[in-house]
Amino acid sequence: MTAHIIDGKAIAAEVRAEVAERVAALGGRDVTPGLATVLVGDDPASKIYISSKHKACAEVGIRSFDHHLPASTEQTELLGLVEALNADDDVHGILVQMPLPAHISEAAVLDAVSPGKDADGFHPCNLGRLLAGDPVVVPATPAGIQQLLLRSGVDTSGADVVIVGRSNIVGKPLAALMVQKAPGANATVTLCHTATRDLSAYTRRADVLVVAVGRARVITAQMVKPGAVVIDVGMNRTEAGLTGDVDFEAVSEVAAAITPVPGGVGPMTIAMLLANVTTLAERAAPA
Ligand code: GUN
Repeated sequence: MTAHIIDGKAIAAEVRAEVAERVAALGGRDVTPGLATVLVGDDPASKIYISSKHKACAEVGIRSFDHHLPASTEQTELLGLVEALNADDDVHGILVQMPLPAHISEAAVLDAVSPGKDADGFHPCNLGRLLAGDPVVVPATPAGIQQLLLRSGVDTSGADVVIVGRSNIVGKPLAALMVQKAPGANATVTLCHTATRDLSAYTRRADVLVVAVGRARVITAQMVKPGAVVIDVGMNRTEAGLTGDVDFEAVSEVAAAITPVPGGVGPMTIAMLLANVTTLAERAAPA
């Protein structure tokens, strides 16, 4: 079998076109959605992500505000900036790029972002709403994975969805999303992690296998059930270039469908961030 390649770039373009229409409608109400990003330090990968987010904002008509602080910034100073952004009426969404330097508590910073301006959906209130099945904004990577599945016609209802990786950004919120009794979800969800015994026994059961561990090519063809749908969240910089967490060439011979790296999940994360900012601006706009 040669897998269908799920084209994240094309699906993200569809989502961005829909977002651009919503932004134009807000313009008719004299509202321009605004996203403020905060980057602390000079991590090269984070700098690339942030600049792609600003470029994507401009393309759909979202204003963006770039705050870049030195790695030595004290936590109180960062919290002061977040408070100022919470109070700024031009800012509808705030994104503090993770990871933060070790001397800053990520939990304290995520708590400080107003839940109504939480572009990432990482505030405990928003994660709680997601778990309860009544989200306002869903973390962008899980939301993007769900849209990839929905828009590729993958029926997840009753399916075995196996997620490898329990990060707060991807694995845990994706598990909460996929278990809901809702379209694009209603799956039997298994969340595997570093302490999982016999990982292959789980991955081989998956109708939909999502891998978000951040290690190049850890999922081999023998670990995948023939006919499965494989979603690769990995972005590993190796000597051979950017590589996912899945051995793409070998797994493509086994799976029914697979996302490439690059051009799979990555573009969807940015598109769903734009959708989140627009949702927050719509909710903040006077009727
Ligand atoms: N670091 C890696 N992915 C993300 C993301 O989606 N949001 C934020 N804020 N930081 C990240």
